[in-house]
Amino acid sequence: MMKGTTLFCLFSSLVVVLFLSSVAADKDDQEDQQVYIVYLGALPSRDDYQPMSDHMSILQEVTQESSIENRLVRSYKRSFNGFATRFTESERNILARMERVVSVFPSRKLKLQTTSSWNFIGLKEGSKTKRNRSNERDTIIGVIDTGVYPESDSFSDQGFGPPPKKWNGTCAGGKNFTCNNKIIGARDYMSESKANQSARDYTGHGTHTASTAAGNAVADTSFYGLGNGTARGGVPAARIAVYKVCNNEGCSGEAIMSAFDDAIADGVDVITISIVLDNIPPFEEDPIAIGGFHAMAKGILTVNAAGNDGPKISTVTSTAPWVFSVAASITNRAFMTKVLLGDGKILVGRSVNTYDLNGTKYPLVYGKSAALSKCSLDKARLCEPKCLDGKRVKGKIVLCDSTKGPIEAQKLGAVGSIVKNPEPDRAYVRSFPVSFLSSDDYKSLISYMNSTKGPKATILKSEEISNQTAPLVVSFSSRGPSTIVSDILKPDITAPGVEILAAYSPDSSPTESEFDTRHVRFSVMSGTSMACPHVAGVAAYVKTFHPEWSPSMIQSAIMTTAWLMNASGPGFVSTEFAYGSGHVNPLAAIHPGLVYELTKADHIAFLCGLNYTSEHLRIISGDNITCTKERSKTLQRNLNYPTMSAKVSGTHPFNLTFHRTVTNVGKQNSTYKAEVVTSPGSKLRIKVLPRVLSMKSISEKQSFMVTVSGDSIGTKQPVSANIIWFDGTHHVRSPIVVYAMS
Ligand SMILES: *[C@@H]1O[C@H](CO)[C@@H](O)[C@H](O)[C@H]1NC(C)=O
Ligand SMILES: *[C@@H]1O[C@H](CO)[C@@H](O)[C@H](O)[C@H]1NC(C)=O
Ligand SMILES: *[C@@H]1O[C@H](CO)[C@@H](O)[C@H](O)[C@H]1NC(C)=O
Ligand SMILES: *[C@@H]1O[C@H](CO)[C@@H](O)[C@H](O)[C@H]1NC(C)=O
Ligand SMILES: *[C@@H]1O[C@H](CO)[C@@H](O)[C@H](O)[C@H]1NC(C)=O
Ligand SMILES: *[C@@H]1O[C@H](CO)[C@@H](O)[C@H](O)[C@H]1NC(C)=O
Ligand SMILES: *[C@@H]1O[C@H](CO)[C@@H](O)[C@H](O)[C@H]1NC(C)=O
Ligand SMILES: *[C@@H]1O[C@H](CO)[C@@H](O)[C@H](O)[C@H]1NC(C)=O
Ligand SMILES: *[C@@H]1O[C@H](CO)[C@@H](O)[C@H](O)[C@H]1NC(C)=O
Ligand SMILES: *[C@@H]1O[C@H](CO)[C@@H](O)[C@H](O)[C@H]1NC(C)=O
Ligand SMILES: *[C@@H]1O[C@H](CO)[C@@H](O)[C@H](O)[C@H]1NC(C)=O
Ligand SMILES: *[C@@H]1O[C@H](CO)[C@@H](O)[C@H](O)[C@H]1NC(C)=O
Repeated sequence: MMKGTTLFCLFSSLVVVLFLSSVAADKDDQEDQQVYIVYLGALPSRDDYQPMSDHMSILQEVTQESSIENRLVRSYKRSFNGFATRFTESERNILARMERVVSVFPSRKLKLQTTSSWNFIGLKEGSKTKRNRSNERDTIIGVIDTGVYPESDSFSDQGFGPPPKKWNGTCAGGKNFTCNNKIIGARDYMSESKANQSARDYTGHGTHTASTAAGNAVADTSFYGLGNGTARGGVPAARIAVYKVCNNEGCSGEAIMSAFDDAIADGVDVITISIVLDNIPPFEEDPIAIGGFHAMAKGILTVNAAGNDGPKISTVTSTAPWVFSVAASITNRAFMTKVLLGDGKILVGRSVNTYDLNGTKYPLVYGKSAALSKCSLDKARLCEPKCLDGKRVKGKIVLCDSTKGPIEAQKLGAVGSIVKNPEPDRAYVRSFPVSFLSSDDYKSLISYMNSTKGPKATILKSEEISNQTAPLVVSFSSRGPSTIVSDILKPDITAPGVEILAAYSPDSSPTESEFDTRHVRFSVMSGTSMACPHVAGVAAYVKTFHPEWSPSMIQSAIMTTAWLMNASGPGFVSTEFAYGSGHVNPLAAIHPGLVYELTKADHIAFLCGLNYTSEHLRIISGDNITCTKERSKTLQRNLNYPTMSAKVSGTHPFNLTFHRTVTNVGKQNSTYKAEVVTSPGSKLRIKVLPRVLSMKSISEKQSFMVTVSGDSIGTKQPVSANIIWFDGTHHVRSPIVVYAMS
């Protein structure tokens, strides 16, 4: 996740700064102020209700100040009710006690997750893929991100008619931003003043994700010759609405709430949001879960990146069952970068290197051997800032034991850098020639240097290779199990997210480096950020064939038709907790046969079962709901979800049931039989009742029960199986996962 990582690091160091800047206190104020989101639930249905003036009067009541204009950061008033404001802690407490106020929580800082991929997953170019163009033209994808570069060929509106009739949004792109019939709407929530408001993308991230979901097909694109071919989105004829909630410094929770508020009322069909929280909050403090709930209630599917904090388990931050959470995979294309040594030997490393050293060999120096005397060898080995002697580094290729090392080497005038690579499964873009070597190759390079007088090498331009072992979940993709809901399998699905070529903003450089003078219209990025818009594109694609389908039907169709991925290796890391139901398969997803449907009421019952208080329920749903006794007995694992997962003690035998109901969306008079596939040596005993479902009509629903029993499974490894409903045509597959954790 080259860019992803840099953004991450940048964000984590900036969070503090941003937090401080939002603590801009009044001079006479004793206490510091902070931005809080004040959530008032659903909008009253009264015609005369004026949200803005209501928000102002609440503020006035709490602060007892006459002038409060600069306190109100923003109002949410289109799809739900609330506002963001600057408050001191004691004001917050007064406010929280007001009966009308559902909740007050600090606005969190969030972070971004950073062509051949569509072919790879089966959506081929041109007539090879069945499409409903007229419905595609009526589809609107809402992209909540860093804005877009509107002049990109991926967003040209050549051949596009006026926006669909249902479009209810506006172009408020601000300074130097013109919408067209492709980018039909734009809003910016990140600028401090109206004067410099702009939905223009100064990072590249939002341009990349928007074009991956719905960019036009653009022929002959490449990143300096790499990845050449046609770049395109999943639904190239669809429209894009842009909601800018992040800039170079990070993303804001209150802006995200605004973006959902607007996108829902604007009439988008699918929301893609490649942003995650940097911790794992409960749903009532998670703007993506809250916004996504309102979207779901209005028939809009929210697709979200799972996070880039893998391969550690329980790092997935996108955990709400009404949000579709996407893991990232390696595709069949990879970039590699050869290092040619003075003795003619070639080492094959990883990186996306567009620089050509023209075969000239340069002297090699190990960071450790170029240490300044004030610096420990351990730090110099990593090429840490202010640790290397510029005189011994300049004009050479510098070896660094850390992936951040090359930044310092370049600063001191090195011509290139070779790095020991801890994560060989993806390649990074860097601002000068770099190759990341496996530890073995790195070691052999050092022994070449040890045994040679005047060791030299050159770094070649990257080449493309085809990797036949793909797809596999990439190491950085966040893993389950969810710490918020133990019995819902997350992430849900896997899509390409490594070394993806897509449109980029030339207002930025392809790396974060100040030395990078390149400005490109297409670039290579990696991250669950890149996987997320692939699934949003597939969801939109499915919707063009089934415009009346609810978000849960689309989600179910994509999950139950996913390519099977195999659990491999010990532990949790390469199991369903990495890939969910499998690898997205768009062509199959338009004919799922059966779907698992969920309504708003089902999700509320689910939250009741989690013992949510009415207060927390109001925060999430906006409605005034009290959980009935019946609803409070709802077990998490009985949510009608397309996967089945349960946490058990691990030390005792268990016997669990899952209740499910499927809806026929295939053919009349079809008979489905249940097949259970357990992996060899699996200790699960699984019974399905009934084993046969006969569906007479379309939309008919039938229920079944799955009983899963087994002996103590220990905490080291989850156990899993698949249940497949098969009617001779459709394979409707759900993974079953049982696990224990210490
Ligand atoms: C596209 O879908 C619409 C309705 O959803 C249908 O009327 C039309 O015939 C479809 N077109 C094609 C080419 O399948
Ligand atoms: C608008 O943005 C484009 C693309 O970055 C830039 O070339 C142009 O100078 C900008 N125009 C103004 C008036 O800022
Ligand atoms: C925004 O505009 C104000 C004045 O209109 C200016 O002082 C400020 O520097 C601008 N900020 C940016 C980031 O351009
Ligand atoms: C990419 O470029 C290479 C070398 O010029 C060429 O052989 C290949 O056909 C191109 N691929 C595509 C998809 O255009
Ligand atoms: C369209 O936007 C207006 C203004 O925000 C809003 O009042 C209306 O409810 C929206 N229409 C729909 C269908 O959401
Ligand atoms: C390599 O050759 C090209 C074209 O001759 C030249 O533009 C470039 O500067 C050279 N690169 C280096 C590192 O010498
Ligand atoms: C090829 O794919 C396998 C499995 O997906 C992965 O382990 C390996 O790192 C990949 N190789 C490259 C060069 O990306
Ligand atoms: C290289 O030489 C150093 C000491 O000069 C030694 O510590 C190191 O183990 C050698 N490394 C290899 C890979 O030969
Ligand atoms: C909810 O509360 C009930 C009664 O206190 C308890 O038995 C149950 O385990 C709780 N459920 C969860 C998910 O915490
Ligand atoms: C919520 O509903 C209950 C009755 O169902 C009612 O007593 C209560 O006043 C309502 N609360 C709000 C804030 O509307
Ligand atoms: C599991 O429980 C069900 C009833 O809930 C029962 O019918 C079944 O025999 C039990 N299975 C085992 C293996 O104990
Ligand atoms: C389904 O079965 C019913 C009754 O057996 C029959 O009337 C109907 O024609 C059948 N439909 C199809 C599409 O075969």
